[in-house]
Amino acid sequence: MSLRIAPSILSADFANLERDIARVADADVLHVDVMDGHFVPNLTLGLPVVKRIAQVSPLPLDVHLMIEDPDRWAPRYAEVGATSVTFHHEAAANPVAIARAIRSYDARAAVALKPATPVEAALDLLTEVDMVLIMTVEPGFGGQEFMADMLPKVTRLKEAAAEAGVDVWLQVDGGIGDATISAAVQAGADTLVAGSAIFDHADPAARVRELRSRATQARAAMS
Ligand code: DX5
Ligand code: ZN
Repeated sequence: MSLRIAPSILSADFANLERDIARVADADVLHVDVMDGHFVPNLTLGLPVVKRIAQVSPLPLDVHLMIEDPDRWAPRYAEVGATSVTFHHEAAANPVAIARAIRSYDARAAVALKPATPVEAALDLLTEVDMVLIMTVEPGFGGQEFMADMLPKVTRLKEAAAEAGVDVWLQVDGGIGDATISAAVQAGADTLVAGSAIFDHADPAARVRELRSRATQARAAMS
C-alpha cells in the first residue's frame, strides 16, 4: 500500500498560494483546510478560493471541511474540482448521504473524527467512504502538538478495513513532522498531512522529500 504526503496550505503564504503550491508539486495531494469560524474557532477560505486553487494546482485537491452543515456544502466542493472531500462526523446530519453525494461527482469521500470522537463512528462507514481522517490535534490551527494517543484509532481502522476487505485510505492530520511521522505510519496511516513541518521552512520541496523518506523507512521497518 502506498504512502501519500499531503502538504497543508494552512501554513503557506495566503498572498502567494500559487507560488507555494508549486514548491510542493512533488507531494501527492494538496491538503486544503476550509474553516467556517463556527465548527472551529478559525476562518480560512471557501468555495471560490478552492475553485481557483483547483484550476492552478499541479496536485489533486484534498479538501478538509471544518464547517457546519457539510450535508449542504460538501458536494459543492467536489463540484468545483476537489478530488477528495472530507467532512467531519460531528457536524454531519446524514454521513452516508454526504458520502454518496460527494462520490456522485467522481470525487473521493472521506469522514474525519475529532480527538474526542470514538473510532466506532467511522467503523460504521467503512463501506461508504474512500478515506478516514483521524485528527491528531484539535482541529482549527496549525502548529499544535501531536496527540500520540490517537494512533490506536488508526490501527483499529486498519484492522477493520482489512476484515471488511475494503481499500480505505487512513489519513492523520495535526502535529505530523520528523518526530511523529514514523509512529503514524507504524500505526497504519498511509496519508500524512503536514503543514508547519513543510511550509515553516525555507525549502518546502526538501521537507516533502525528507518526510517521505522517513515515512518510507518506517513502512519498510514494519515488514
Ligand atoms: C488543523 C488542520 C491541519 C493543519 C495541520 O485543524 O486541519 O491540516 O494545517 O497543521 P500542522 O501540520 O502544523 O499541525
Ligand atoms: Zn486539515
